[in-house]
Amino acid sequence: MAHINQEYLKLPGSYLFSTVGRKQREYQAAHPEAKVIRLSIGDVTLPLAPVILDAMHKAVDEMGQAESFKGYAPDLGYEFLRDVIAKKDYQERGCDISADEIFISDGAKSDSANIQEIFGKDNKIAVCDPVYPVYVDSNVMAGRTGVYDVNTMTWSDVIYMPCTAENGFAPQLPKETPDIIYLCFPNNPTGATVTRSQLQEWVDYANKVGAVIIYDAAYEAYISEEEVPHSIYQCEGARTCAIELRSFSKNAGFTGVRLGFTVIPKDLVVDNTKLHSLWARRHGTKYNGAPYIIQRAGEAVYSPEGQVQLKEQVAYYMRNAAYIYEGLKSAGFKVSGGVNAPYIWIETPGNMGSWEFFDLLLDKAQVVCTPGAGFGPSGEGYFRMTAFGSYENTVEAVERIKKLNF
Ligand code: MLT
Repeated sequence: MAHINQEYLKLPGSYLFSTVGRKQREYQAAHPEAKVIRLSIGDVTLPLAPVILDAMHKAVDEMGQAESFKGYAPDLGYEFLRDVIAKKDYQERGCDISADEIFISDGAKSDSANIQEIFGKDNKIAVCDPVYPVYVDSNVMAGRTGVYDVNTMTWSDVIYMPCTAENGFAPQLPKETPDIIYLCFPNNPTGATVTRSQLQEWVDYANKVGAVIIYDAAYEAYISEEEVPHSIYQCEGARTCAIELRSFSKNAGFTGVRLGFTVIPKDLVVDNTKLHSLWARRHGTKYNGAPYIIQRAGEAVYSPEGQVQLKEQVAYYMRNAAYIYEGLKSAGFKVSGGVNAPYIWIETPGNMGSWEFFDLLLDKAQVVCTPGAGFGPSGEGYFRMTAFGSYENTVEAVERIKKLNF
């Protein structure tokens, strides 16, 4: 007789962005005339840049010719893409990462959910609070998180590192020693960052206690300040303790195209085993590679024209971020993030609960935000707005919120 994985039953409710999406759809169905503006999930709205479309068209044509047709992609991804990533994202920034330490995938969401598979079930994870829910939920599915307490919204076997206004939304080294540490900078959801020397402390700590850092750098393209590191490998010693996840979703608008990569240095050894070999084994068994057409599109991201066109897209979204930041600040909200990240993290007015404010904003302004509590207990009393909408919608949403006179 078949049995289910009981760990799935422990997951409270549905995935955060599914709940937010459902609430939006229900509202729209009940108010068909309402012009609802969605600034909740971090989904891009600008079309793909011309240089990327050209690369895709060319690759489509290649697939139609016997001499250039491609079947299964190589296990770790095409060399043309891994080479350019190693050079542009790492070596040119002074990071010692080679092409054969890069694993191409269909995006950072699946990598961030899957990477825990190569660690033992008894590993203890530490996460920022608030946190991108995938890190925790994927560990729940794996049976690594213990028992959920509905009142505190926490798991018994997870170490939470509160990121609050008091600590500038930067986690402190935990009191209890973790085995795996999830860090995401620029941060989703708070938009906060750490400096290179702050990140160096994490690398030193992980090396000291034998922990592995899973570093999600999906929002790297939004960094505007000099002292903010673009990669954890800019820190000394990161090759022996850190895995880095990257995405093409936010820097190049690939949310619907799907492409990302994971970096595992060959020096990263746990239990006398290279994590690189384990992930290669896992990748080879469970994955047949991102499509050739998409990997060619990814390569175009690094071309000189690609760099120019994508900088414009990032600037477009960051103009939205500034509009939200300034607009809500001038309306009296306590606002943070939005400088090195496309997310703005805002305190709810009048101590309102996150979901209460979410409902109110949808009802009174027809604006969809993401309730901070959905990212963890320290997110209660906050909401997140994304800069990935159109400029027009962003302006309208901010003006509608201002009119509510909180
Ligand atoms: C978010 O809104 O937090 C992200 O877009 C979700 C994701 O990238 O999977």
